[in-house]
Parts: sequence; structure tokens; C-alpha cells
Amino acid sequence: MPIKSLIRTIPHYPHKGIMFRDITTLLKDPIGLRTTIQEITKRYQTYSIDKVVGIESRGFIIGAPVAYQLETGFVPIRKPNKLPAQTIGRDYQLEYGNDRIEIHADAVQPGDRVLLVDDLIATGGTAEAAVRLIREMGGEVVECCFVIDLPDVGGRTRLEKMNCKVFSLCKFEGD
Ligand code: PRP
Ligand code: MG
Repeated sequence: MPIKSLIRTIPHYPHKGIMFRDITTLLKDPIGLRTTIQEITKRYQTYSIDKVVGIESRGFIIGAPVAYQLETGFVPIRKPNKLPAQTIGRDYQLEYGNDRIEIHADAVQPGDRVLLVDDLIATGGTAEAAVRLIREMGGEVVECCFVIDLPDVGGRTRLEKMNCKVFSLCKFEGD
């Protein structure tokens, strides 16, 4: 099933020179959505995952159904000031601009085996911040899983330097 072929590319969005990889065309396709969730779930069935952590907002769309299928809990990492209880947070640089993510301070227990899920890894700034937050709480990031990897931007290498395993369903490189 060609997941990659269902992802739409918008040139020069949101800025000139950026090739925006749009997963909405994958999500609206019933077989595309189902295959995406099934392929991720199949990989992690035997990994003894305790929690799936998804990154707002596109990471929620992928992460929650993966958690449901794996029969684990789901934990949201959110943009600033969205979570109501005590949080820990990190600032980071995005491919275009700055941002911050936060997680509830009690969301991950020490020793939890965590699968981090997002739709896409570009610079890896978002994922790196997420990994640091999970580790700060004593969680073990078993793997970081993305639908799309943009290896030319270097995020995968950045995570691997932090001793993180990285998996993606497809890659866009040199195009
Ligand atoms: C996008 C994408 C990843 C992140 C990847 O999210 O969904 O979360 O950027 O970029 P990086 O690897 O360079 O950090 P964005 O912050 O645009 O927000 P959204 O998911 O709410 O659309
Ligand atoms: Mg995102």
C-alpha cells in the first residue's frame, strides 16, 4: 500500500522554499488511514509499550489510534498553556520559528516504556524536546515513530545521537 503516494506536497508553504508534506490526503483516504495505523501497530505489537506519547497536533491523529490498537495509554504533549495540571516543558527551535511543548508532570512514570509518535520529523527539534521531557520523568523512549522522515534536514541523525531509535513509514529525500 503506497502510503507515500497519498501524501500531498505543497511547494512554498508556509514559507518560500519549504516543501510542505501534507498528511490530510493520507488521512482522508480510508485505506491510507487504516494502513498507516496498522503498519505502526504491527511493528510495536511485541515491544511491551506502556504508553504512547503523541505530539500536538498532528501527532495526536496518529498516536491515539496506535495507543488504542496497542491497548496502551495515550499521553499528549501539548503546545504551551493547554494542559491544566502541573507541567514540565521545553523550548525548541522549529524548521521555521520557535516553539515550546509541555507534558503533565505525572503523565509518565519512571520505568515506563514509551513510544513517541508524531506525523513527521524534519529538524528533530520537536522530537528531541519531547524525548528530553520523557526521559526527565524517568521514562524509557523505546523508539520514535513517524509517518514521514525528511532525512535531508537531519532530524533522524539528531535523535540517533541521543541514543534514540527512529522509525518512519516513508521518507522524502532529494525531492
Ligand atoms: C510539525 C510536525 C512535527 C514538527 C516537525 O508540527 O507535525 O510535529 O513540525 O518539525 P521538526 O522536526 O523540525 O521539529 P507543527 O509544530 O508545525 O505543528 P502541528 O503538528 O500542530 O501542525
Ligand atoms: Mg506537529
